[in-house]
Amino acid sequence: MARKGKQKVVLAYSGGLDTSVAIKWLADNYKMDVITLCVNIGGVKDVEGIRQKALKLGALKSFAVDSRDEFIDDYVFKAIKADALYEGQYPLATALGRPLMAKLLVDLAHMEGASAVAHGSTGKGNDQVRFDVSVLALGPELKIIAPAREWGMTRDETIEYAHKYKIPVPVKASRPYSIDENPWGRSIECGILEDPWREPPEDIYEWTKSPSEAPDRPEYVEIGFEAGVPVSLNGKVMEGLALIEKLNVMAGRNGIGRIDHLESRLVGIKSRENYEAPAATVILKSHLALEAMTMSRHQLRFKERVAQEYSDIIYNGLWFSAHREDLDGYIDSSQRYVTGTVRVKMHKGNCVIVGRKSPHSLYNFQLATYDRGDLFDQSDSAGFIRIWALPLKIQAQAQLITFKPAKGGKKGRSK
Ligand code: ARG
Repeated sequence: MARKGKQKVVLAYSGGLDTSVAIKWLADNYKMDVITLCVNIGGVKDVEGIRQKALKLGALKSFAVDSRDEFIDDYVFKAIKADALYEGQYPLATALGRPLMAKLLVDLAHMEGASAVAHGSTGKGNDQVRFDVSVLALGPELKIIAPAREWGMTRDETIEYAHKYKIPVPVKASRPYSIDENPWGRSIECGILEDPWREPPEDIYEWTKSPSEAPDRPEYVEIGFEAGVPVSLNGKVMEGLALIEKLNVMAGRNGIGRIDHLESRLVGIKSRENYEAPAATVILKSHLALEAMTMSRHQLRFKERVAQEYSDIIYNGLWFSAHREDLDGYIDSSQRYVTGTVRVKMHKGNCVIVGRKSPHSLYNFQLATYDRGDLFDQSDSAGFIRIWALPLKIQAQAQLITFKPAKGGKKGRSK
């Protein structure tokens, strides 16, 4: 290379064991200057401590960025409007965070004149795909390095490497689980959870009470939506992040949001994934309840298919695609009238919709009622049904009359 000085790599840095080891490993194996970036989308506690730690471990420069609001407003809210739930179970917390992290990584690489970016994902998961695909879309000239995918060290070997180079091993690293969290959810993997027959032990949970230990009295919450996104809790208008954090506490103490999913990873592996997603569980359910009130049956049915497509896009790392943007166009339009309030009863692990209202409601009491005030003209139904049944009647007569007794008393096809 004709470049003067060392090349630079921007590493997505969490402060955990793998990315701490990666600072040293990148410097040694790629002879590059390492610049770290700690992106806080809501799961990071001591951002400044993490930033300092990277410098101590040999990073040339160390940055931290607070992207919590951007994460909620530009990623989570889109997923809510879309009703995104991978395989009907996983609210996609980690999957939504990766493209944002990749985007910030690319931005910093451009600002710092780096030739490469790096992340701590292994070669077995979905996260490597999400990082790599996003970088390929946004900064195709950048080299992508995934140390953990390359070095082939086991957990113990990584810890040994850390000891050898005096890299502090976080207490968490010795815990039996691998955890990732942001306000949209928390995931727990590894250890005994890898046996899908074993019930998850209580110690994997941090955000949710065991349903059996949750309060005996139900707790009610009213969630206000505007154009498909949550805007208030119990009548109090709140910013997205604060609303979700508050609801995580409320639903969590009622034992809501535990998910045990046998998940189909993009790389072909089936893996047992446990999640805690109290706010996501309540919000997604409430959102569907409001859509049922404000969208026609044709819209609802088509949107279900869009939801599945959108979930796959998020899960499979295709966030920065024209396809996703096109679907956003449809989804945003579909949400124009998804405004109103949903009343939820939270009780011992259950979250039940017990009320809903909207200024754009398609529910019409005078049409639905069986009591006085009925405006539905029942005599219209008979003619409607005759026409509705017409194709069936014609087809049955022409093709499907199998049980007409044939002459001589034997059963047979009428021909
Ligand atoms: N299975 C989930 C997903 O693929 C969670 C992944 C959690 N990632 C992690 N590095 N712990 O999105």
